[in-house]
Amino acid sequence: AGVDQSVSTGVLPGWEAVEAHVVAAYERSRTRAGGAVADYIPILAAADPELFGVCVAEVNGEVHSAGDAEVGFSIQSISKAFVYALVCEELGHEVVHERVGVNNTGLAFNSVVAIELNDGHPMNPMVNAGALATTALMPGRTPELQWEAVRDGLSRFAGRSLQLDTVVYESEAATNQRNRAIAALLESYGRIQRDPSEIVDVYTKQCALRVSARDLAVMGATLADGGVNPVTGEQVVSAAVCRDTLAVMAANGLYERSGEWLFEIGLPGKSGVAGGIVTIAPGKAGIGVFSPLLDVAGNSVRGQRATAYLSRALGLNIF
Ligand code: DON
Repeated sequence: AGVDQSVSTGVLPGWEAVEAHVVAAYERSRTRAGGAVADYIPILAAADPELFGVCVAEVNGEVHSAGDAEVGFSIQSISKAFVYALVCEELGHEVVHERVGVNNTGLAFNSVVAIELNDGHPMNPMVNAGALATTALMPGRTPELQWEAVRDGLSRFAGRSLQLDTVVYESEAATNQRNRAIAALLESYGRIQRDPSEIVDVYTKQCALRVSARDLAVMGATLADGGVNPVTGEQVVSAAVCRDTLAVMAANGLYERSGEWLFEIGLPGKSGVAGGIVTIAPGKAGIGVFSPLLDVAGNSVRGQRATAYLSRALGLNIF
């Protein structure tokens, strides 16, 4: 009330224009275009394939939503980007660069071969090996304290208290032999100094945090806004940490499809196997999308289409 919504207070077009583009992104990307729900985590196979939500959060705090933008789902791999930011904030650019690296593996997110080909180096924090090595660096003497630090940190990015989806956590904890193998392999190379099974447990919980497309948009807007959450006003991480995190997301956020994503959309992003994708337009906005049907690399099909539309319609491509 009292705000002239035809005049832009941010760096995007006016409020009504952004609102219309978010609705158009939803409408145009809604039809089914292939893809399948993830099923290697049993509970994810039960997801409703028709769910679809789109949300844009601007750095001025305005939020625009369409479809199922408030529906909860597990954050999965998108957590990797935000845990990486928290660890960079704690340990600094050099230490983290030396420990987990920044280069793309060119292989699937849960590849064991990638570790073996690189002399036990986890390569980057967006694949499971690098994410496990990153979670191991979270502050906290015990796994319980590390988990609390993860939950609290991601909640500050979202601007509300995020909760564990216990059903997803238990489903994944019962079937995550591959991640346990990756953590044990990293330990054998001296790449993690903690008990590997405890680190896998913290990581599995971090992946089972429940978020909505709206939460992802606000989390992304915090990275777009130099680490300041535009809704709460809290400085969550430094601007330098945002720069590091966005560089790593640009190179690795969509796994072996990161090059294609950058070519089509031109923005740093991060996907998760429950169907979420967060995208950052630096200095402008965060985009959160959710739809469970995935391509073969594990990226939401509708989510990619909606984000591509928004990048073009709002002129967000950084290149
Ligand atoms: O570790 C896993 O396999 C899952 N918790 C997360 C994987 C994931 O989200 C990959 N993304 N597209």
